[in-house]
Amino acid sequence: MDGNGRWARKRHLPRAVGHKRGVEAVREVARAARDMGLEALTLYAFSTENWRRPEDEIGALMGLLKSFILSDLEEFAANDVRLKVIGDYNAFSPDVVELVKRALARTAGNSGTTLAVALNYGSQAEIARAAAKAAAKGSITPATIEAELDTADMPPLDLLIRTSGEVRLSNFLLWQAAYAEMWFTDVLWPDFTPAHLQQALDAFAQRERRYGGR
Ligand code: FPP
Repeated sequence: MDGNGRWARKRHLPRAVGHKRGVEAVREVARAARDMGLEALTLYAFSTENWRRPEDEIGALMGLLKSFILSDLEEFAANDVRLKVIGDYNAFSPDVVELVKRALARTAGNSGTTLAVALNYGSQAEIARAAAKAAAKGSITPATIEAELDTADMPPLDLLIRTSGEVRLSNFLLWQAAYAEMWFTDVLWPDFTPAHLQQALDAFAQRERRYGGR
């Protein structure tokens, strides 16, 4: 969900306002994913590298995450959306941890769209953790590592979207992206709408996936 900062800068607004508008885009896109019947949508909200940002920006992001859960949890619960977190959110402050746990428990029985949020997530660390767990169980193979990834209970990654014109993965779902289709768009995240998601899905539907075969 890249481009919140640039969205705000273009309008001479504080970065936090860009993040706030980013949450509005999250809300619309999450609803659309559910309405379109997507099995899963994973949003990269906070990376292991985002701790390098100024304290007030981190605080603003945490505040937005909390208010998003408080305002939208019941809608997700009522609409068969299962919330999930990838990454180690236990590093966050106790109030955030409690709220996230409550949201996960509240929607755990749902079986419609899975809305996964990457919090304190970094793919290299995830893969290292998974490999260590696989090793402890006595076998390191692609299948045993995959079974220990944070995404183990999710469907394979089909489509990866990056907004704001950057053309890199930035430590997001590196393992899972092995055969994912990529969609890079110049649209800044706060401007990203369900129509943009549909555009990416339409392009995805045209792609021929061979998984190394022919
Ligand atoms: C990247 O934009 C965005 C982030 C680091 C934060 C994304 C988080 C949210 C939208 C809010 C919290 C999430 C949820 C699920 C409620 P940037 O700041 O790097 O933008 P820039 O590259 O234009 O500076």
